[in-house]
Amino acid sequence: MEQYIIRGGKPLTGSVNISGAKNAALGMLAASIMTDEEVIIDNLPDVNDVNVLLEAISGLGASVSRKDHTARICGAGIKTTTADHEGVRRMRASYYLLGSLLGKYGSAKVALPGGCAIGARPIDLHLKGFRALGAEVALVENGFVSAKADCLYGAHIYLDKVSVGATINIMMAASLAKGKTIIENAAKEPHIVDVANFLNSMGAHIRGAGTDVIRIEGVEKLHGSEYMVIPDQIEAGTYMFAAAATNGDITVRNVIPKHLEATTAKLLEVGCEIHEFDDAVRVVGMGRLRHTQVTTLPYPGFPTDMQPQMAVLLGLAEGVSTITESIFENRFKYVDELARMGADIKVEGSIAIVSGVDHYMGAEVCAPDLRAGAALMIAGFAAEGVTTIDDIHYIQRGYEQVADKFASLGGDIEFMDTEHDIRTLSKKVS
Ligand code: EPZ
Repeated sequence: MEQYIIRGGKPLTGSVNISGAKNAALGMLAASIMTDEEVIIDNLPDVNDVNVLLEAISGLGASVSRKDHTARICGAGIKTTTADHEGVRRMRASYYLLGSLLGKYGSAKVALPGGCAIGARPIDLHLKGFRALGAEVALVENGFVSAKADCLYGAHIYLDKVSVGATINIMMAASLAKGKTIIENAAKEPHIVDVANFLNSMGAHIRGAGTDVIRIEGVEKLHGSEYMVIPDQIEAGTYMFAAAATNGDITVRNVIPKHLEATTAKLLEVGCEIHEFDDAVRVVGMGRLRHTQVTTLPYPGFPTDMQPQMAVLLGLAEGVSTITESIFENRFKYVDELARMGADIKVEGSIAIVSGVDHYMGAEVCAPDLRAGAALMIAGFAAEGVTTIDDIHYIQRGYEQVADKFASLGGDIEFMDTEHDIRTLSKKVS
């Protein structure tokens, strides 16, 4: 069992470089096989979700090579449009292969992403979009989704819910459809804009990304490109919140401050000092945090991926705060873990009522999902005593070198692989 052992109780200080945005990179990797020419993607984060998708793309027959944070991908050698690499089913973003393979080859078969710790995670809006473009879509045996079309035709698509994944998936398929597609009620996250810019750098014709109406003029084919992924706003926000929770002083470097506005606004509200630079933001804790109210919303609202981290902060603030989770139906699973550290949080449906305590105590906890795991790390650094976090594979899905980065900020953290250590120990004593 791999664990992080964290000894908390001291402020985290210093500066940390933010990696490329996982949720932009995943869309781009899927889109990269929509041309037979080579695509080079720079500033790729070295996180498990990205590595799994690269393996899946290679499994289709594309050539994939990677050096540090740069991947070179060429889809010319793709031999199949069935993505059944063992990692595909484990990772929800594999569904992006539906849109890219359908757009390029007119057919795709991808293992259906399961629900996860934060909700059912349906893909009905993705499939609605593909059908509107003229594809036949079916759920086939053993949990695969298949989509096929002799030709895709532009359509006017209205998304009933704001969906990041559906927006990106439909945008990809529509890029090679005949005619014009309009996506109404589109998601506006920075990673949507980044994937649209990437597709345009490959010769697509997409306008309006970042607004709620995206217009796509289908083109005959896409060509190679070299592109750099934007910085990860959620990774940045996570370290910014760690400064606030430990009364520290952290500068996140290589960020786009505009993407962090909702996060920064909340830090100001709870009493932190913020210094903004062109590509960096400095957060200084100013003693006991103040309570506030938060509702997660699609961008530019407060991001749902920062919701668990917000709960850790407010759990230490004076007074009573509320957190309303409006995006996912089950994103408070971490509350039980945080309660083991002394947090006083009551969940009623989609609202968490947080009564601040003056400190957390170290405890043994389990990461229930990616962002909750990161939040528990922040709680561990703020807590008095030692915190052990299990199931850290969730955290490693989306945070590059997270233990090293926290250690570089003065965090006392150790990685333990208990099975390995027990094996090594037993060899020593036998
Ligand atoms: C993306 O997930 C992100 N993942 C999530 O980040 C993020 O929390 C989410 O967007 C919201 O910002 C990736 O980009 C890989 P949605 P996605 O479609 O696309 C419902 C992380 O921590 N919905 O915007 O799956 C859905 O159930 C991850 O990095 C449908 O009903 O999210 C949810 O309630 C966690 N039908 C809401 O819409 C659909 O077809 C928003 O989901 C699709 C979504």
